Amino acid sequence: MRRTLIKSITAVGAAALLTLATACSNEREGSSGSDSAGGKGFSKGSLIGVALPAKTSENWVLAGDLFTNGLKDAGFKADVQYAGASTTVADQQAQISSMVTKGAKVIVIGATDASQLATQVKQAKDEGATVIAYDRLITNTPDVDYYIAFDNFKVGELQGQALIDGMKAKKPKGPWTIELFSGSPDDNNSKVFFEGAMKVLKPLIDKGDIVVGSGQKDIKQTATQGWKAENAQQRMDSLLTSAYSGKKTLDGVLSPNDTLARAILTSVKGAGKPVPVVTGQDSEVESVKSIMAGVQYSTINKDTRKLVAETVNMIKSLQKGDKPTVNDTKSYNNGDKVVPAYLLPPVIVTKKNAAEAYANDPKLAPLTK
Ligand code: BGC
Repeated sequence: MRRTLIKSITAVGAAALLTLATACSNEREGSSGSDSAGGKGFSKGSLIGVALPAKTSENWVLAGDLFTNGLKDAGFKADVQYAGASTTVADQQAQISSMVTKGAKVIVIGATDASQLATQVKQAKDEGATVIAYDRLITNTPDVDYYIAFDNFKVGELQGQALIDGMKAKKPKGPWTIELFSGSPDDNNSKVFFEGAMKVLKPLIDKGDIVVGSGQKDIKQTATQGWKAENAQQRMDSLLTSAYSGKKTLDGVLSPNDTLARAILTSVKGAGKPVPVVTGQDSEVESVKSIMAGVQYSTINKDTRKLVAETVNMIKSLQKGDKPTVNDTKSYNNGDKVVPAYLLPPVIVTKKNAAEAYANDPKLAPLTK
């Protein structure tokens, strides 16, 4: 029908129609998989809930402050909550329910346990709120509208590649001996980071160029419950005792984030072993210092300021009744549906590019001088 119409109108009219058609198809793309979100809009000054997990890394601490200020500056009322350190799941469930009861129009959730929020997000949807999964996906529920995060699979790939590069720089010829660590099993990201890293590492492991000293290659064996430093340190202690006695050395450790990287390095130091190449993530202050001192090898820059700003933009679109922009409609199947996602690019940081990577970060730039 569109063709017949175009034939019968002038060139100017055709151009206008084309613009309209493009706008419509863009809108369709933006809305795919999220029929329930957007559309009606809501009044400015509405309440927005932000439920964050426990403060297991600096990025979460920063996110809370940025949401409080960013939402206020955008004219919303903000209710920003963290799950407590021990009763994380129950805390977060109660916080989300309370946000729904208070009439929040959008609820942004950094899940403490991906699979334990189905009841609360259903409650949110039933009351007409839009649910945005922030940084961590919420699984096994149709009631999550959008996902916003840095590209987690890419994070893993960058970590795997950094591990290889770092080991090659120290010892040009393999085989290299490594250990693998992954994050908390209740965080959907842990699996994605690990899979990204293994995509890069597995071919070398299969060839025998990389050897996992302990033989522990399964994600279950490598997990770090609660993303807790003490759990990573304990596991590293016991790996060193069981698989690295005498002069046996360790060339590298895949660590999924900075908190765990520092715990692993503490353990290796305590055992009197040479410092291996250790990866990380989050650009935490102590890790950036360690990288500049030549101890930790790498981290990942996921600028929390950008992630929060983009989330606030999503909320502004929803307020106006527009569909928020997404750029990935295939990667994040949560077990129930593919959640439309807006993904930002992560950046690998080593001593070499730290000054450049943090040039616009007033907190980190001075550390690289
Ligand atoms: C985040 C990481 C963080 C980890 C522990 C993950 O979900 O993506 O940046 O290091 O949680 O807090």
